[in-house]
Amino acid sequence: MKESFIVQFFKKWRQIGAIAPSSIFLVEDMLSEVDWDRASIIIELGAGSGTFTKQILKKMRPEAKLFVFEIDHVFLKKLNKIIDSRIVIVSESAENLSKYLDGKKADYVISGIPLSNLDKHVKSGIIYSAMESMVSGGIFLQFQYFPESLNFLKKYFDDVKLKFTFLNTPPAFYYICLKK
Ligand SMILES: C[S@@+](CC[C@H](N)C(=O)[O-])C[C@H]1O[C@@H](n2cnc3c(N)ncnc32)[C@H](O)[C@@H]1O
Repeated sequence: MKESFIVQFFKKWRQIGAIAPSSIFLVEDMLSEVDWDRASIIIELGAGSGTFTKQILKKMRPEAKLFVFEIDHVFLKKLNKIIDSRIVIVSESAENLSKYLDGKKADYVISGIPLSNLDKHVKSGIIYSAMESMVSGGIFLQFQYFPESLNFLKKYFDDVKLKFTFLNTPPAFYYICLKK
């Protein structure tokens, strides 16, 4: 799994944004922010090789639904091997996510999109679409290796908290953003 990440990183470093998948420590820290009893619709953006995806599926309720957005074809092949009736894998940019939700709104959006590497209009398009597709009280979770998007995320969400996980390559910050 790590090999394919490095290969994809060297081919498209801007889009991939990491040399390794997130560690189980970062995954568990971020997923501990989720109230699984109230998570009916979950969206994952930039799933990569599925590190978060597999843990989300382990934790989510049998009747919950997970919409996964990824644009890299090597990673999509891996994601499409996951057999679970609760998952919908979409090979489309996260900017267009609302088209695929059948009018549903998400309780949680969990994002690994490399915000720092994106053009401003793409980044704004993704965060706006995510925020618009969330229920009131919904939570957007995003990790980043430098906490440079704090003020940017505060423009879209009513409350933004920043936390840190040391045990990741590299150590990572993550944002917990509330839509009121
Ligand atoms: C840093 S990796 C994170 C992968 C995985 N979530 C993890 O934590 O290991 C970023 C992923 O976002 C994907 N990505 C980048 N831009 C995207 C976009 N506009 N829509 C969907 N996925 C995108 C990349 O292809 C890559 O797989």
